[in-house]
Order: sequence, then C-alpha cells, then structure tokens
Amino acid sequence: MKVGKNVKEEELWTLKEENERLAWEEELNGSPSNRAMPVHLTFETTMKCNMSCIMCQVYRSPEVASRSGVVNSMMPFELFERVARETFPTAKAMSPTVMGEPLLTPYFPKILGLLEEYSVKMNMVTNGMLLTKQMSEKIMPYLNKIKVSFDGASKSTYERIRRGSDYDKIVDNIRDFNTVRDVVEGEGRPVLIFQVTLMRENIEELPEIVELAKGLGADWVVGLHAYIFDRSFEDQSLLKHKNLADSVLREAESRGREVGIATHFPSPFDSTTREEVDAEPSFQYERPRRCKFLWQEVWISHRGDVTPCCVPDRPVMGNLREEDFGSIWNGPGYCEIRIRLNTENPFDCCRNCSMATQYEDGVGYDYDEKSFFLCQEEESQKH
Ligand SMILES: C[S@@+](CC[C@H](N)C(=O)[O-])C[C@H]1O[C@@H](n2cnc3c(N)ncnc32)[C@H](O)[C@@H]1O
Ligand code: SF4
Ligand code: SF4
Repeated sequence: MKVGKNVKEEELWTLKEENERLAWEEELNGSPSNRAMPVHLTFETTMKCNMSCIMCQVYRSPEVASRSGVVNSMMPFELFERVARETFPTAKAMSPTVMGEPLLTPYFPKILGLLEEYSVKMNMVTNGMLLTKQMSEKIMPYLNKIKVSFDGASKSTYERIRRGSDYDKIVDNIRDFNTVRDVVEGEGRPVLIFQVTLMRENIEELPEIVELAKGLGADWVVGLHAYIFDRSFEDQSLLKHKNLADSVLREAESRGREVGIATHFPSPFDSTTREEVDAEPSFQYERPRRCKFLWQEVWISHRGDVTPCCVPDRPVMGNLREEDFGSIWNGPGYCEIRIRLNTENPFDCCRNCSMATQYEDGVGYDYDEKSFFLCQEEESQKH
C-alpha cells in the first residue's frame, strides 16, 4: 500500500483507517505475512541525552555509556525521511523516542514537517528538560500523547534518580505545557501522562506522585517496573520487595480514585497467578496468544535496525540501510516470529515477555523474573 505525497488529508485518513482495519484482521488471524503496514512506528531518532539516570540502560554510569559507543549517535535524517515516506501515508501515529532524549534531535523541526505532510500524530516520551513553552507551542498541533518521565514526588528523590535533571524547571515546563494545551479543545487535545519507572528508591513516593500529577494537570499516571542491567542495582527491583510494592501499588491506585486521576500500574505480585487462573474453569484468558506489536507496530533503532517491540532482548528483523521497510516487514524474520508466537516454541523474548504482565491487566500472567534482570554485560565478563 503506497501512495504519493500529495494525497489530500481526507484521502489519507481513509487510507489510514483501512490500513488499521486490515492490521487488526491480520493480527486476529495470526497471519505470518501482513497486508497492512504499521499503524504506529517508534524511531530512535537520537541517542543523546542531557541526563544520566541511575537505572538507564545506557547512561547509568560513564563506563557503560562509553563502552556502549553510542552516546552521540543519531538516526541520519535521510534514513528517517525514507522510512517516513514509505510508511507515513498509512500510519496513524509515530513516536520519536526509544533511548535518548527526543527533544535533542537536531532535525526535530523536519520531523514535524513530515507529520504535517502525511497527517501523522506524535506520541512522545520525554524527560521534560527541553519542554519549554516555545517547544510546547511547536509540537502541540501534532501531539496525541506525551509521557513525561517522573520518578519522584520530592525534588531530592527525583534528582537523585534522574541525575542532571532540574525538578523545578521540569515542573514549570509542565505548567507551561498546560497553558498551551488549554487552548486546544475536543479530540485534538493531547493526553498528558506521568510515567514512573518503579524501583525501591521511589516506590514509597508513588501515592504522592499520583497526587502531584493530578495537581499538574496530568490525565494518567503509568508505572512500569525497572529493568535491571547491573547486579549492583538488583536490590532496586521491586521483585525483591514484593510486599512493600503490593501495599504501595494498592495505596497509589486508591489515591488515584480519591483525587480523580487514572492510574495504570503493574498488577500486584500477590494477584491471581496463571496456575490459579488455569484451575478456575469459568475464567478465560486470551488464547490464542496475541501481540499487537507484531502486526501493528514497529521499533527502529538509530542504526536502522528494525525490531518488533522494545523488550530488551528483542530480535532484529533487518536493517534499513540494506533493505526497504516493506521487505523487512514481510521478510523471513517477521514471518517466523509471527508464526512461532502461538506454538510451543516461541522466540525467547516472547516466551518470557513482560509486556503482557505490565501493559495488560496482568491477570493470568505470572511475573517472569528473568525478563526483568538483564545483567548480561557483567555475566559475560565473568566467563
Ligand atoms: C529510555 S527513556 C527515553 C526517553 C527520555 N530520555 C526519558 O527518560 O523520558 C524512556 C522511558 O524509559 C524509562 N526507563 C529508563 N530506564 C529504565 C529501566 N531500567 N527500566 C524500565 N524503564 C526505564 C525512562 O524513565 C523513561 O520513562
Ligand atoms: S533521561 Fe531517559 S535516556 Fe536519558 S538517562 Fe534518563 S532514562 Fe536514560
Ligand atoms: S517480545 Fe513480547 S511484545 Fe515483543 S513481539 Fe514478542 S510477545 Fe510481542
């Protein structure tokens, strides 16, 4: 499904609607190849960052950052543009964030130009430091959803986790964002989400973060368990503090109800497990297993690697410096992972996938602890 770039907005929307309908159909059928193009694309436009958060896969220490060899890397604009022109006519939304801080992308204004040209909306995750009033004004017409990472209710916890941040500046930026957003009404009004990476260091502040988020005009608070990349950081995982985590998660949820803000947190560790669900004949959890990422979404690294999702040990399906997007999307790698999803032999990342536990309601899924502890570098150094 390809079109030239001068198709009118209405026609583009018809095309996008039809593509999404087809993508759902392909997902429901579990089709190995996919007649639809992605509905949502995520691009790692830059690896650069102005913070060095303690849990970050790349920036948690200067040694890790320098060993990674990627700190100043970015996706060349030519690559971004080529993929955008191939996929944006049928896509509904994109995100410019994987690793790094998207607002540091030097060609950010050109990204907005392509969104305008193809009527594509933007979802973004940002650390909020560069979300000035001027930036909010520029991105507002394209924005669908913005997640501001928010890892503490107090300035001290926040700045201890998000090293290099300025809590007061970020709070001011969020207030300014809201004044710009307040002029937008109805469906075009973007959603503001506070995203919390849950760990021992901040879990006790979660109920307060929920209250603060409400006070700062957020629509949602989302919490996700931290992946652990270093043995020395293992004790930060809430998988090591399950009782504490369960009681605070419940309290934070109820604080959300009290103050009137939606929350989405991982299910408590002591909630129903897969065995209990299996033993209860009246309860049906979803089978065959589905994963919208394999049929509707895609992640593209700054090097042009195409992967189906953001799970840390996801496979690379192909590289956009060597092939066009369509060839990878329906190439052998993608067909194989789609087929194997519902067999006894799924890809390892799908077998242990923590997306379901964290992003869906969690009922019927156990926590697979292996999928949260990803201390490969240290492990491999031992051998
Ligand atoms: C990698 S950052 C990229 C965007 C931007 N730099 C930011 O921090 O918002 C995307 C999200 O991942 C979260 N994150 C960072 N390290 C994580 C970890 N070890 N486990 C889970 N999420 C993590 C961040 O807090 C942020 O909300
Ligand atoms: S702001 Fe985002 S990319 Fe930067 S160090 Fe923190 S988590 Fe990593
Ligand atoms: S790892 Fe999880 S999210 Fe990624 S493709 Fe497999 S099932 Fe889907």
